[in-house]
Amino acid sequence: MIRKVLRTGDPRLLRTAAPVDQFDTVQLHKLVQDLHDTLRAHKGLGLAAPQIGVGLRVLVFRDPDAAAANRNVVLVNPTICPVGETTSVAAESCLSVPGRWGDVRRYEHVRVTAFDVTGQPVEREFQGMAARILQHEYDHLDGVLYPQRMANGLGSSYVPQAVAHR
Ligand code: NI
Repeated sequence: MIRKVLRTGDPRLLRTAAPVDQFDTVQLHKLVQDLHDTLRAHKGLGLAAPQIGVGLRVLVFRDPDAAAANRNVVLVNPTICPVGETTSVAAESCLSVPGRWGDVRRYEHVRVTAFDVTGQPVEREFQGMAARILQHEYDHLDGVLYPQRMANGLGSSYVPQAVAHR
């Protein structure tokens, strides 16, 4: 089911989400399906449960290894650690901060440990754009929106020309 995406100003986006403690439940499968449906409907790159008003540590994003198959990575209770110290700055946007972009520094290469929807452990590494999206979605689980990662906060996000003139 396509769910409403919360927008900046909604206090639910600023809360720390709780870990999932029961796997393979009807509710958890439905939540993940709603995340898939909502992400697809908005043509987004990633979506975290708090963005649809569910305070659980669940996120989805386009799988770089299965992009052609239009598959998403699903991570429950993820933990991220950087691999190496290389970082890069690139523009990000967020379905919860519509119409704006901002430059954010992220690790280039990260390892994630998590669980799938059935409770099986997952361990994967991501680089580049996928690593950036993962770090952005992970931040949503801690109530952090990308403008908070920018040097000057929300005021310095911008509307790119290409979008402004569309
Ligand atoms: Ni976002």
